[in-house]
Amino acid sequence: MKIRRCAVLYMESREKLSIDWRTVLAGGSALAATTQWLALAPHLDQELPVTAEELAALGGLSHTVWTTRAEAEQRYGEATIASLLKQGLLIGDTTEHADAQARDDTLRATHWRPLSALTHTFGRWREVSSDNGMEAPSFQALLEMFGEPPPPTLDLPAEGALKLPAVRSGLLDEQLFKRYTGRNFDLQASIPLAVAARLLQRTFGAQEVRMVGPHASVLKKTSPSGGGLHPVEAFVLAQRVDGVTPGLYHYHPIEHELRPVRTMDSATAAELAKQMLADQHWLADAPLQVVMVARMERSFWKYRNHQKAYRALALDTGHLSQTFYLLAAEAGLPAFVTAAINDVDIEQELGLDHLRHAVVAICGCGPARGGVRSMVELRYGETDAL
Ligand SMILES: Cc1cc2nc3c(=O)[nH]c(=O)nc-3n(C[C@H](O)[C@H](O)[C@H](O)COP(=O)(O)O)c2cc1C
Repeated sequence: MKIRRCAVLYMESREKLSIDWRTVLAGGSALAATTQWLALAPHLDQELPVTAEELAALGGLSHTVWTTRAEAEQRYGEATIASLLKQGLLIGDTTEHADAQARDDTLRATHWRPLSALTHTFGRWREVSSDNGMEAPSFQALLEMFGEPPPPTLDLPAEGALKLPAVRSGLLDEQLFKRYTGRNFDLQASIPLAVAARLLQRTFGAQEVRMVGPHASVLKKTSPSGGGLHPVEAFVLAQRVDGVTPGLYHYHPIEHELRPVRTMDSATAAELAKQMLADQHWLADAPLQVVMVARMERSFWKYRNHQKAYRALALDTGHLSQTFYLLAAEAGLPAFVTAAINDVDIEQELGLDHLRHAVVAICGCGPARGGVRSMVELRYGETDAL
């Protein structure tokens, strides 16, 4: 049997602090620190404590060149190698270790930058609830907790500053000034299908398909995209869109159609919205929501092992959400965007592999209750969780 180390591995030294009363009584330092090595490997998607012997083996074995198990056991001991194989930190070439090998192979084939794979994997949420204290404190409470914030802007010396001319009004002004984050969606209201269609097509739809090879094409959209690759896909959660059965759909940007992933009754869709949005009930009532999912395989096809590729995916998603906000404003609807979402639960719902597809953010929109901004929106408008 041959073995090698998994492709991406980060060792973190964590410490637990406690008060050592015996030392305190003897006149020594009150704080005692216990340190532990944790292995963070994106293909395993969990933190694993490792021993000093295991750490030495992980540091000594190649993640590229295969070595025989016997040779590794000779260097690091049978028990150490067996334990690392069992955890999936070492990859074996036999069927017994096929699962870990398949996950490791997916990671290698996707061309992740190792640090980006770690950031992505270990930044995801599972079953997080805003009831666990995530709800944003008021600006007043923040001031009490943290004191004065840094000023709202950089203030370089004004000497030699060029005063700019007064601003003329322009075509975009109406949408720009009407745009705001809604947190007061009307549970009785729905979105007409024509409005939803325009929102989706003008934000996520292909305005043009350009052939760049016999079988390769790129899309032109209304937002910019790193490398012109448009790796961000739109999955729609329709709660109350006229003529659409509640459920999850993929919006096809070329065919301009909603392809069902799973339809459901309204109550289930409402529950799902809350779960996806980490119980942010002030957003979950929005009748139309879009989960933005980046396809790493499309982006990293060009940006292989690239330092900036992961950042570009977040930027692409941000551009799409602003376009969505402006189109919603045009339709007289407040909108929202949030990254405070349960990515892992969404992956399971949509059947996505986090190594190939990154759930980045959710945006949504709908009519405001009573047609006006509520006090909570005004409060959140001043300060927010994210
Ligand atoms: C990246 C990003 C993440 C956000 N996350 C949340 C969120 O988790 N919950 C929420 O209610 N609003 C969220 N917002 C909305 C902001 O709080 C909002 O834009 C800000 O308060 C300014 O208000 P305005 O959009 O009405 O101008 C987010 C906005 C951005 C751009």
